[in-house]
Amino acid sequence: MYPKIAQLKNIPAFRARLAELGLELPVDDEILTAERGSPLSAPWDLGGFRVGNRWCIHPMEGWDAERDGSPSPHTLRRWRHFGLSGAKLIWGGEAAAVQEDGRANPNQTLATPANKAGLAALLEACLAAHRDACGNTDDLLVGLQLTHSGRFARPNSKKLEPRIAYHHPLLDAKFGIDPADRSIVWTDDDLQRLIDRFVAAAGLAAAVGYQFVDVKACHGYLLHEFLSARTRPGRFGGDLAGRSRLLFSIIDRIRAEHPKLMIGVRLSAFDFVPYETSREIGKPMEFAGLLPYEHGFGTNPTDPLAYDLTETVELLKLLQGRGVIAVNLSCGSPYYNPHIQRPAIFPPSDGYQPPEDPLVGVVRQMQAVRACKQAVPELPLVGSAYSYLQDYLPHVAQAVVRAGWVDSVGLGRVVLSYPELPRDCSERGEMARKKICRTFSDCTTAPRNAMISGCYPLDPYYKAMPEFEQLRTVKERLK
Ligand SMILES: Cc1cc2nc3c(=O)[nH]c(=O)nc-3n(C[C@H](O)[C@H](O)[C@H](O)COP(=O)(O)O)c2cc1C
Ligand code: SF4
Repeated sequence: MYPKIAQLKNIPAFRARLAELGLELPVDDEILTAERGSPLSAPWDLGGFRVGNRWCIHPMEGWDAERDGSPSPHTLRRWRHFGLSGAKLIWGGEAAAVQEDGRANPNQTLATPANKAGLAALLEACLAAHRDACGNTDDLLVGLQLTHSGRFARPNSKKLEPRIAYHHPLLDAKFGIDPADRSIVWTDDDLQRLIDRFVAAAGLAAAVGYQFVDVKACHGYLLHEFLSARTRPGRFGGDLAGRSRLLFSIIDRIRAEHPKLMIGVRLSAFDFVPYETSREIGKPMEFAGLLPYEHGFGTNPTDPLAYDLTETVELLKLLQGRGVIAVNLSCGSPYYNPHIQRPAIFPPSDGYQPPEDPLVGVVRQMQAVRACKQAVPELPLVGSAYSYLQDYLPHVAQAVVRAGWVDSVGLGRVVLSYPELPRDCSERGEMARKKICRTFSDCTTAPRNAMISGCYPLDPYYKAMPEFEQLRTVKERLK
């Protein structure tokens, strides 16, 4: 077990641990308020809109919409929390599926005409909470994340109903997919209809008042998988132009048909090979026979446990050229290499014990974003995976924004346990220690076991639910 962040009692101890791990990361001595000139409180420009600060709330779904894709009280509560956080960029809220078979779970929010009122209610919940907490919404930018879950679609039950870009030798094996099954591979014709659905969903988002849509291309979902479809024949595979054709077809059509709507992309900047699910320390699936590795995007083909950002940078330049206002960078996938995607000291139930100090995972993402920023300086970038920094999150966040590593700091899990974090930092220069996410991963373990997501350990709202006991039983069984 690695030293927990809460055991590193002060900034020098935290810096010493980073040095011990050989990690380069700037860390400020104290949390700066807006009044004292925190770099996180500086406004910035996104697509001609002045965004009030550098905090961003990442999209986080809750597996808690109603069965028809409309928001439940839990969904609305999460969006209220996003709004009251004080962050001025709400990146997508949560993944909303553009068609029913694209849902990652039967309770995923839908971005379809039947849920138009639901999408409006989510936006309004966020705006109203922001208005109450911050006075007005003049400098708040809110988008909706649009998705098709592809290989990880579970629209009807816990059972996977995959729709894949290509047969991936390791992921097929990990998730029980027959490598000869052609019926689950998208045809080029199917894709034309899918493009229509993304464009229609973007139109809905625009009609109810979202200022941008995020065309989701991360975490192993469909548009991310296409980026590594080198073995796919035809127009939507092969070279980078082919592999990114689906993403760009969607972006171009949205721009043409909804010219006032801004477009962002959440991208897994790099990927590693999938890891085996186990109770042991995480091990990559056997890949020796697959070298040079051609089944990842941003993966080093000769060492697929390292990144190679050559194509990532190329794609970012193309995205910028196509008028995308910003890219929110993440990496990997929570389904097959969660330790790189959302570093945690306690793994989710379908994960494995961390194979590296989670700080290594945090800094890997930050360094990758920094390299992208250096390569494409004009493209606004949001960074991910800050939650594991815990008590030292603001000290690092303000230092990296000041140093120009990234333009905006995205918050994921910590917002589930502690939604007021951005305001507490900018107004008081303090954090409430008891609310800091300690990466217990219950918000991932719960949905992996057919329960709604939420911060069961720290949020009294979830502690009071019957699922709390159910989750405890699941975790006991895993011990
Ligand atoms: C419960 C949960 C739900 C998530 N849902 C989404 C989602 O809908 N869309 C998305 O792009 N990322 C999603 N993520 C990933 C987060 O946005 C974020 O990238 C990840 O948690 C790492 O950031 P963090 O270290 O601040 O938590 C989810 C993460 C969690 C824990
Ligand atoms: S359940 Fe709560 S403490 Fe655990 S990882 Fe999720 S947000 Fe953090």
